[in-house]
Amino acid sequence: ISEIARVKNLNRLQIGKHEVDAWYFSPYPQEYAHLPVLYICEFCLSYFGSEYRLARHRKRCTLLHPPGNEIYRYEDLSFFELDGKRQLTYCRNLSMLSKCFLDHKTLYYDVTPFLYYVLCQRDSTGCHIIGYFSKEKESADNYNVACILTLPQHQRHGYGKFLIEFSYELSKKEGKLGSPEKPLSDLGLLGYRAYWAETIIELLFNISDDISIDDIAQKTSITHADIMNTCTTLQLFKHYKGQHVICIPEALQERHKKAIEKRKRRVHSEYLIWKPPV
Ligand code: COA
Ligand code: NA
Repeated sequence: ISEIARVKNLNRLQIGKHEVDAWYFSPYPQEYAHLPVLYICEFCLSYFGSEYRLARHRKRCTLLHPPGNEIYRYEDLSFFELDGKRQLTYCRNLSMLSKCFLDHKTLYYDVTPFLYYVLCQRDSTGCHIIGYFSKEKESADNYNVACILTLPQHQRHGYGKFLIEFSYELSKKEGKLGSPEKPLSDLGLLGYRAYWAETIIELLFNISDDISIDDIAQKTSITHADIMNTCTTLQLFKHYKGQHVICIPEALQERHKKAIEKRKRRVHSEYLIWKPPV
């Protein structure tokens, strides 16, 4: 693809009842590339050049949720697991949609090596997509997330942390440690740093015994490297009687108690009905 063609092409996207700006180039076919608004079916993620065409499609499209297995349901939130090979069209549409908000050089045109975990909010009209993450079926580097996205209209409501928390719940069920694929975007890094800090500090609040980095890793599925980085950034390591100990300064305790209390959306792992795919 030439440089010129990679310049941000779309302007706005309509998804369900939301209209949002595209942030980056996305490889939608040429004939859709320069429309003022691209209309997306919020259930199958097919795209249309006009409201009329979308309305006509909605009469035929029977989907009211992503075409996969619902593996989590609690309150009004559900996760669906999709296989890039089996739900090829949906996963391609999801990749194209998410590319509008991702500045990665490499886009996953080939969706078949990935599983997709789509977060939806349920109401009487259907399951509305909030965001998703993808995950390699086999990751040589033990990545537990490839791409992660909260649709712009739902950002800054805690869903990013919810998606991240869910990705670690899957790793716990696999009995593995995991880390997101690098490089992370700026927003991705902010989201992960916030999640790691809150998760580690929350764990430290709730234990009274000594705890090692490895204990933290086993309990959270966060890798040793990500734990070390987080604790270093937060300046949690202190020298005490010739030993390294982790301690949480008082100001940080207050700040994190507030942050944790603010997090309304938490994953309730007892509602995750899932076995690692074989
Ligand atoms: N400015 C500053 N900090 C931000 C931020 C912003 N615009 N967006 C997120 N953060 C930080 C905050 O610390 C926030 O916690 P807080 O709201 O308690 O302060 C934390 O990240 C997580 O916020 P949350 O609401 O849980 O995340 P989100 O639903 O907004 O989703 C992403 C986070 C990364 C998934 C979302 O920004 C996104 O989809 N970005 C585009 C795609 C992308 O870059 N993905 C990652 C690379 S693969
Ligand atoms: Na939607």
